[in-house]
Amino acid sequence: MKILSLPSSVELAKKVSDNLKVGLSLPLARRFPDGEMYLRIEEDLSGDDVFIIGNTRKDEDILEMIMSLSAISDYSPRSVNLIIPYFGYARQHKRYNRGEPVSSQILTEILSTHSDSICTVEIHDEQTLRYSQKPFTNVHVYHSMAKHFMDKQIDYVVSPDDGGLERAKTVAYELNVEYFYIDKKRIDDRTVEMKMPDVKVNGKNILIVDDIISTGGTIAMSSEMIRKKGANRIYVSAVHGLFANGADEKILKYSDEISVTDTVQGKYTGISVYEEVSDYIKRFYVRA
Ligand code: R5P
Repeated sequence: MKILSLPSSVELAKKVSDNLKVGLSLPLARRFPDGEMYLRIEEDLSGDDVFIIGNTRKDEDILEMIMSLSAISDYSPRSVNLIIPYFGYARQHKRYNRGEPVSSQILTEILSTHSDSICTVEIHDEQTLRYSQKPFTNVHVYHSMAKHFMDKQIDYVVSPDDGGLERAKTVAYELNVEYFYIDKKRIDDRTVEMKMPDVKVNGKNILIVDDIISTGGTIAMSSEMIRKKGANRIYVSAVHGLFANGADEKILKYSDEISVTDTVQGKYTGISVYEEVSDYIKRFYVRA
């Protein structure tokens, strides 16, 4: 078995390879003078089960992944398995308006055509899994999230919308505390209405959990409402921290701390999902 790390996931790939005591291979990646991408896998991966770890967050990540699939075929590995910690474009898993692409479908079709299996972490909507022609697994990381907040004396775990209720419920169960969700309704493209249930948060420590922080709007609005109701400390956590357009400043105006996982490495990465990813790889061999 070998792990091949793409540039978008090097830290996480290193942790997984250390944990499993498996060799880590890094392709040579650089740019031609005209800006086009060059990639070369130098290690002979013939006959290996190869796990390629890389995101599809940025467009260049996607290109790196597609090119690595072409490059690796030169060695005839036993199997080629993609681990995509953050599956970008999964929020466009359906057509909202006529003339739009189903982005996650076309991406999944391309990736699954050239690989033997795909695994991702907490995908935005599991519809994308059904677009794959090969086994596609969605790994949950509730345990690592909960573990991180074990010593923070949390009183309530909160989901900023009903879609994240299962996550809040499971994290709350692990922390042995109560949970609730905020009723979020999209009125139109620009307006979102959020309603708090009748829960007394005055003086309590709150943990808000979500799958993605993108612009930070959802979590900032939730934090503001909870803060105005007199909460003591507000902790914010999400699986994937994208932090577009100063999202962190927006969130920290009403909350005390942000901690996201290393599916996307960044300033607020405080939780690692390496155990869950390693467990997935171990299970792969039990299944085989
Ligand atoms: C929504 O369905 C998701 O679970 C997240 O709440 C959303 O994508 C977060 O986006 P933003 O940070 O831009 O509010």
